Amino acid sequence: MEIRETKPVIFLFVFPLQGHLNPNFQLANILFNKGFSITVIHTEFNAPNSANFPHFTFVSIPDGLSESETSNPDVIELLHDLNSKCVAPFGDCLKKLLSQEPTAACVIVDALWYFTDGLTEKFGIPRMVLRTVNLSAFVAFSKFHVLREKGYLSLQESQADLPVPELPHLRMKDLPWFQTEDPRSGDKLKTGVLKSLKSSSGIIFNAIQDLEQEQLDESLKEFPVPHFCIGPFHKHVSPSSSSLLTQDMTCLSWLDKQEPNSVIYISLGSIASVDESEFLEIAWGLRNSNQPFLWVVRPGLVRGTEWIEILPKGFVESLEGKGKIVKWAPQIEVLAHRATGGFLTHCGWNSTIESICEGVPLICKPSFGDQRVNARYISDVWRIGLHLENKIERVEIEKAVRTLMKSSEGEEIRKRIMPMKETAEKCLEPGGSSFRNLEKLVAYILAF
Ligand code: UDX
Repeated sequence: MEIRETKPVIFLFVFPLQGHLNPNFQLANILFNKGFSITVIHTEFNAPNSANFPHFTFVSIPDGLSESETSNPDVIELLHDLNSKCVAPFGDCLKKLLSQEPTAACVIVDALWYFTDGLTEKFGIPRMVLRTVNLSAFVAFSKFHVLREKGYLSLQESQADLPVPELPHLRMKDLPWFQTEDPRSGDKLKTGVLKSLKSSSGIIFNAIQDLEQEQLDESLKEFPVPHFCIGPFHKHVSPSSSSLLTQDMTCLSWLDKQEPNSVIYISLGSIASVDESEFLEIAWGLRNSNQPFLWVVRPGLVRGTEWIEILPKGFVESLEGKGKIVKWAPQIEVLAHRATGGFLTHCGWNSTIESICEGVPLICKPSFGDQRVNARYISDVWRIGLHLENKIERVEIEKAVRTLMKSSEGEEIRKRIMPMKETAEKCLEPGGSSFRNLEKLVAYILAF
């Protein structure tokens, strides 16, 4: 753990879930390119592969998680376990790092490390927070106390489609609640994260100010600390892998053989899961659409199964090469491939922004948290995708795929995403909003 650099040092405490590791490492690369030396602090659980980032210093802290804790299907409980078990190891680590590098500029923590609230300040080092969701979802999260008081959390199914007066564009069913056994656990997470953001020295977003100015203004009222929207992160830097699963690169040679804009790509991210019946409905819907498809079935995606063994015998053969199923894909490359024409997604923010950047229209199947907000924005506000609002049934999947890929309605949706793609490109050019915000962020950190 020797640090010899003379550049200003940033300690980055990455959060060990895939949807966080990717933007965490993208930010590290962005700041490295701006002249900072980066020390990555990470847990043993889901430790990143340091060989992929030889330009960073890596420091591992013991998280003390048991096997049953790391495989807890209740992700919110896992987040709390990580937060409670890392207090002492993180404190020890920071103390040691600061004794070696007393002039380090700041610590940047992922927002899910809510326990760091006030802790780094005790060591006399400022704390910036990286919030990996977009501003629209963030504003919805931040109103959680008000929404809870109004009873929106204990709604009946009949009220699901009612508008949320406090959040224009959203319906009750779009509120970013979590799947957890104990609702108090979700509340504790939100309270902890919001408090730690309020007391931070600033918040960094993988978001584009030009797309969410109204929500940025709203957030600044609630969180009077500097906000830096510098997304899309992955477009600042050349791709590097912070993938926990091996990406199946045969996806790309398979895509090479397909017609332009013909393939529907399906992935539900790294956490969301489906039951056996939903999985089979998706499978038949894709097959019946007769459209070429590339489907990521992550081990564990289908609750209670290993992988795709529940598909009927002969299903894969019957596709005759028209469908490809993999365990994990090089998603950014897949979305950028000329053959990819649509994305059936859970609407995690990384997937959403990656798709916008390639002008690939979406079909939304959100599960929990920010995914629901993103889905509503995709379908109703930005109008760059279709929303699977009802129970997952094969006819619905087939219809959505055909509509997106083959109909005039799909063509209109495809046209509407192009100006968003352009905005995502322009904001990174000199004078663009993310370009300017990054310059401000660098100056802000150097002034600490
Ligand atoms: C989680 C939450 O589910 C999401 O709502 C929140 O916005 C971020 O944290 P996750 O489910 O992993 O994220 O989804 P997402 O945000 O889309 O991130 C997935 C990442 O994995 C993306 O960067 C994507 O490119 C990558 N990925 C996904 C692959 O590299 N290969 C794949 O096959 C699928």
